[in-house]
Amino acid sequence: MGKYFGHATCVLRPRTTQQVSEIVKYCASRRIGIVPQGGNTGMVGGSISLRKEIVLSLGAMSNVRSFDPVSGILVADAGCILQSLSDHIAPHKHIMPLDLGAKGSCQIGGNVSTNAGGLRLLRYGSLHGNVLGIEAVLPDGTILDQLSVLRKDNTGYDMKQLFIGAEGTLGIVTGVSIMAPPAPQASNNLFLALPKFDNVLPLYQQVKGQLGEILSAFEYIDRTAYDMGVKHGLGPILNLDEVGDAECFVLVETSGGNNTHDEEKLNILLESLMSADESLINTGVLSQSPGQFENIWALREGLTECVQKEGKPYKYDVSVPLTDFQKVVDQVRERMISKGLYGDHGITKVMGYGHVGDGNLHLNVIAKNGYRPELEEALEPFIYEVVASHKGSISAEHGIGSMKTDALRYSKSDVSIQWMKKIKQVFDPLNIMNPGKVLP
Ligand code: MLT
Ligand code: ZN
Repeated sequence: MGKYFGHATCVLRPRTTQQVSEIVKYCASRRIGIVPQGGNTGMVGGSISLRKEIVLSLGAMSNVRSFDPVSGILVADAGCILQSLSDHIAPHKHIMPLDLGAKGSCQIGGNVSTNAGGLRLLRYGSLHGNVLGIEAVLPDGTILDQLSVLRKDNTGYDMKQLFIGAEGTLGIVTGVSIMAPPAPQASNNLFLALPKFDNVLPLYQQVKGQLGEILSAFEYIDRTAYDMGVKHGLGPILNLDEVGDAECFVLVETSGGNNTHDEEKLNILLESLMSADESLINTGVLSQSPGQFENIWALREGLTECVQKEGKPYKYDVSVPLTDFQKVVDQVRERMISKGLYGDHGITKVMGYGHVGDGNLHLNVIAKNGYRPELEEALEPFIYEVVASHKGSISAEHGIGSMKTDALRYSKSDVSIQWMKKIKQVFDPLNIMNPGKVLP
């Protein structure tokens, strides 16, 4: 994004957990701050050295330690790239329980440390459920080996949960044990244009009712985001005349065990949507080939990169009730207009897309001509206040990093923050682990 700049004086690339431990012991003895870094694809400045801390990159720790094709349990070094893990288990007919646009660069240790969500959460749940164990190097250099390969283990405090989403502030995740689900026999997708946002919820209800257990993703793209994607060569997926003045779009994916059965369900769904008296959609298309399936996903997954091409993005990743998705986007646009900050001299686009099935909206606010302090002041804490007024979360899946430490209080009570600080103090009394991140 060109928003965060690192000040590291050196980068270390250990190859083994033992080396990570030695580095951490050395740093602890000299009180040197450490910023653990995975694929460097985060969006909240979580893996940036703010104050000359050293960067500890996990990229050279990239071995798969084991995979059991019967249980689907994978044990891997933290630096394994998500896509290479998918490729590793694909011949055994398994998939990773998470998928995200950054899969070609992000690493499993970073995914776990940031509790990354992504496109499959609707179906397979969060990493708090899928991670069976972790290995981590604690802030004094001790190695915590909790690389369990057990589905069930009810023996006291579940320490691994603390590291999932801690963003490296409690220790460095060096290995992960994760449950990979069986690969679906058939995957299909459907792309729909909706005349108005109010139709999204009834559509979601209908889709859930008709597709049942084969529904695996329900993604939302507003008109501004769709037009931007098309402008940058993603699509058009749908015929422009039929799209008409559609306000938004929905991508529906199914993953099931029988292609004929799944396609039949999707065809019936599309037909019933098209033929309804007051149709919820303007038009829609069911992918007819693997190429078309990929193109539909490419539009959704490519939005993040298109946003970067449009200018400098202020990115907000929030959870709000589904009914309020578009209201939040509109409120922010109106705010910038009322402040006289909308237009070429300020904000040029406000758009929403995201994982509507999980209540997760990606609100992207673009400044064509670059970041400016008065733009940020108009956006923050306004957006956090809006999210809090909808009883939402200021970070659904991207984490807190260095961007949102002061905003944590909009989603966590004083008591929660106090106890988080106490936990940090127990693990890292010298405050050398990713200092300045997560906690204010
Ligand atoms: C996404 O779902 O596309 C990502 O979380 C990234 C983004 O917010 O752009
Ligand atoms: Zn996302």
